[in-house]
Amino acid sequence: MFFDDDEEEYGGEERLVRSTKGEFDAEENVLRPKTLEAYVGQSKVKENLKVYMDAAKKRGEVLEHVLLYGAPGLGKTTLAHIIANEMGGQLKLTSAPAIERSGDLAAILTNLNEGDVLFIDEIHRLNHSVEEILYSAMEDYALDIIVGKGPSARNIRFTLKKFTLIGATTRAGMISNPLRDRFGINCRLDMYTPAELKEIVLRSARALEIEIDDGAAGEISCRSRGTPRIANRLLKRVRDFSEMRGSKRITLDDARFALAKMEVDELGLDEVDRAYLRAMIEKFDGRPVGLDTLAATISEDAGTIEDVYEPYLLQLGFIARTPRGRIVLRGGYEHLGYKMSDRQREQISMFDKDIKNDG
Ligand SMILES: Nc1ncnc2c1ncn2[C@@H]1O[C@H](COP(=O)(O)OP(=O)(O)O)[C@@H](O)[C@H]1O
Ligand SMILES: [Mg+2]
Repeated sequence: MFFDDDEEEYGGEERLVRSTKGEFDAEENVLRPKTLEAYVGQSKVKENLKVYMDAAKKRGEVLEHVLLYGAPGLGKTTLAHIIANEMGGQLKLTSAPAIERSGDLAAILTNLNEGDVLFIDEIHRLNHSVEEILYSAMEDYALDIIVGKGPSARNIRFTLKKFTLIGATTRAGMISNPLRDRFGINCRLDMYTPAELKEIVLRSARALEIEIDDGAAGEISCRSRGTPRIANRLLKRVRDFSEMRGSKRITLDDARFALAKMEVDELGLDEVDRAYLRAMIEKFDGRPVGLDTLAATISEDAGTIEDVYEPYLLQLGFIARTPRGRIVLRGGYEHLGYKMSDRQREQISMFDKDIKNDG
């Protein structure tokens, strides 16, 4: 039920810019910053967490439960490691889909020691009976178990050691209110700027003993969709190509060559992003399209599209969500080299109000 590291699975074969983990754990561990100081970017989150952790330590208490919200690959699992490390507790990692029955969760909880940190990935996917066990565990460090059936059923309460729960989710909107209310600390991770990603690329290159020019690191960071995991992955693949070319040190030209081979364009879009936009433009002629329809059209999993692909396309302003479905915006047409028809332009203007409200 426990596993050593996060194993997010979005189905399908390994794909380069998919934000899920597919590298070896050993390398992954080398790349993960171990302290809050070494964690690049997310300054607001870091500042606040530091205050909460210092205050808890000063009072000799365990840290309040933390909810981490953000797209795949932005550093949620890394942050959980750092929190456990800084608070001096053991980190136990699991994920909601791995906890099938309430008994599974009860077993995990009763094995925690004082100050341990329990990390539950994809916490929005907990099933209801498991989630209910969590309420009293989070609030009172107690486990309420019903023994027996019918009139003879009794409620037995076990006391748990004081622990910190860290829940991670890509979908803040899918967490039930009672669960959300039990987290004392809420952190939202944002996409990283190219400058921050460059720092991560250079840091990872040092850790992996890869020699890389500044320009090459900059090129990789601009094409990493604001996501550290993708930056690290692109760095490793670029290294592979440049070694094959006989380069001892990755140059800007090496990086561009490799990224072109991988069909990652200047903005970091890959073939799935392009298929997504093309389907909306060509098959649906710019009309609003529902997620499931779109998923079926490009043979992708709807959850993967929503978690992995759309956040970046939304961030770029290439698409928008309207009450009637997704639409492609001007930037999306232009990036792929389409000239918009009047009809397509009209489609967008119909949703002007929604798009602006969407931010
Ligand atoms: N702020 C950061 N600074 C440096 N590296 C980071 C940062 N956030 C994430 N990473 C790197 O990106 C990779 C993915 O991060 P991870 O914590 O697994 O993401 P998530 O759990 O949100 O999907 C890790 O290998 C880690 O090394
Ligand atoms: Mg993770």
